[in-house]
Amino acid sequence: MQRGKFIVFEGIDGSGKSTQLKMLADVLREKGVKCVETLEPTYGTVGTVLHDILSGKVKADPKVTAALFVADRLDHLTNSEKGVLKLLNEGTTVICDRYYFSSYAYQSVEVPSEWVIDANRLAAETLRPDCTIFIDVSPKVAMTRISQNRETTELYETEERLTAVREGYIKAFEKMKNEEKIKIFDGDKAIDEIAEEIKEFVVSEFF
Ligand code: ADP
Ligand code: TYD
Repeated sequence: MQRGKFIVFEGIDGSGKSTQLKMLADVLREKGVKCVETLEPTYGTVGTVLHDILSGKVKADPKVTAALFVADRLDHLTNSEKGVLKLLNEGTTVICDRYYFSSYAYQSVEVPSEWVIDANRLAAETLRPDCTIFIDVSPKVAMTRISQNRETTELYETEERLTAVREGYIKAFEKMKNEEKIKIFDGDKAIDEIAEEIKEFVVSEFF
């Protein structure tokens, strides 16, 4: 049986990646591709603590948060019931909202980036995405979308922070351009236009 593809969506909050992820999953299912949508942080044991930290309910040092993201990621991969590796080995394509590039971008704002990269090495060596799709929007556009569409904004959603996070992504992409397949889309365009571009890319590349 052919292994499923592992496709990751990345972007700053409000970039539109969840919207695009769902649209791609629908397109692939229509084409008869067996596919599952998933996300990080997960809603598993460690992921639940992360959601509490992100909402401000629980306090943690940034280094602890960074380590928890690694633990959640490893559980996401290896979980014996619905882990990503198991799904891929069963031939299912997995489309994931955020993976280790989110840690490189977000945690590196507060923790040295080399530490974050080292801490994620086991995940990277266990499973590299077949492709990381980055939806690139300006932090200003992202902030407008977030404030219009959400009742609560999470701790980290300030324009200044999103600017630092976007820079973190760009630096990490540059650093890892030889070992990672990264495709950047202009997230300022209309939803349908971006979806069409992503569909064309993914279908021609993998299906
Ligand atoms: P993310 O998962 O990156 O945080 P979402 O997909 O949840 O972003 O989108 C955030 C908000 O912006 C949603 O209300 C969504 O409908 C809207 N949105 C997404 N993509 C676009 C786009 N290209 N143009 C305008 N609004 C968009
Ligand atoms: P959430 O509201 O769940 O989703 P969205 O991706 O739609 O914004 O937010 C997840 C938050 O977790 C987001 O602010 C980025 C952050 N995050 C990290 O800081 N590091 C990570 O490794 C991951 C996976 C997420």
